[in-house]
Amino acid sequence: MPEAILSIAGVSKRYASGHHALRNISLEIRRGEIFALLGPNGAGKTTLIGIVCGIVNASEGRITVGGHDIVRDYRAARAMIGLVPQELTTDAFETVWKVTSFSRGLFGLPANPAHIEKVLRSLSLWDKKDARIRTLSGGMKRRLLIAKALAHEPQVLFLDEPTAGVDVELRREMWELVRGLRATGVTVILTTHYIDEAEEMADRIGVISKGEIILVEDKEELMRKLGKKQLTLQLAQPLAQLPGALAEFPLQLAAGGSALTYTYDARGEHSGITELLQGLERAGIAFKDLQTQQSSLEDIFISLVREQ
Ligand SMILES: Nc1ncnc2c1ncn2[C@@H]1O[C@H](COP(=O)(O)OP(=O)(O)OP(=O)(O)O)[C@@H](O)[C@H]1O
Ligand SMILES: [Mg+2]
Repeated sequence: MPEAILSIAGVSKRYASGHHALRNISLEIRRGEIFALLGPNGAGKTTLIGIVCGIVNASEGRITVGGHDIVRDYRAARAMIGLVPQELTTDAFETVWKVTSFSRGLFGLPANPAHIEKVLRSLSLWDKKDARIRTLSGGMKRRLLIAKALAHEPQVLFLDEPTAGVDVELRREMWELVRGLRATGVTVILTTHYIDEAEEMADRIGVISKGEIILVEDKEELMRKLGKKQLTLQLAQPLAQLPGALAEFPLQLAAGGSALTYTYDARGEHSGITELLQGLERAGIAFKDLQTQQSSLEDIFISLVREQ
């Protein structure tokens, strides 16, 4: 297994209100991956990020970033992390250049105009470097938050709901951008409650619900393991009912009798399709077309959260 760059062990959080926001979270993030933390509102995503970034104190547990304990060795750990927060905060009257450079200084790093320029160019903000923040569009402000988070050359970037309330085009742009960051070697952890976002972006997915991690899995593996597949056969002649000879198969008539659907487990070694096709031939049922469909991550997610 590739080396873990972030290690979370047995972390719990009880807020002063008594609310138990996280329960015994353990999670290892691999260097260079895009990890999506997927969970409904209030699941504890922002709390977990806040703890890793030192904004919220954990009630229990231990976290290291690049081997640095986030409590004992806070500065070294924090310097490795960039955070793009969920809430947009803006210093409306400052310029793009100033805000980004200042952010680097907060980490005690010497000025590096070449790095700031590279970051701003990569986020298509270079021609806005002298613009005041209040004059930027919403999409530019979001990109500026990323620029700020990258100013001190972090190895791990947290994006807390990067595309909440963002239009379709800007979402695509953000996805591209995040993939570009991974290509430069940055490890990305993003939270989202958009399933399609996790499906689109992530190498691995963790599902969090009511303060507990209920699943961590490679995305492909998750889709394969939990996915059901459905085969639809368009019949040459409609059927009024299923012939008794086909009763042994998990079949359903669809589209007013002009199609048959067959559901099978995508993880199984044996789909049973060969037997089905032979059975159809014996029963004298011809078909003119067929499609297969795999359940989406959305179906998987909904059934997981419901089971819990
Ligand atoms: N400062 C706080 N004091 C008390 N309770 C809090 C505090 N911050 C968060 N909580 C509670 O902890 C739980 C988890 O909140 P958190 O913000 O971590 O969820 P989230 O998964 O990020 O949700 P969202 O998708 O809405 O951003 C919620 O029930 C929330 O009300
Ligand atoms: Mg949140």
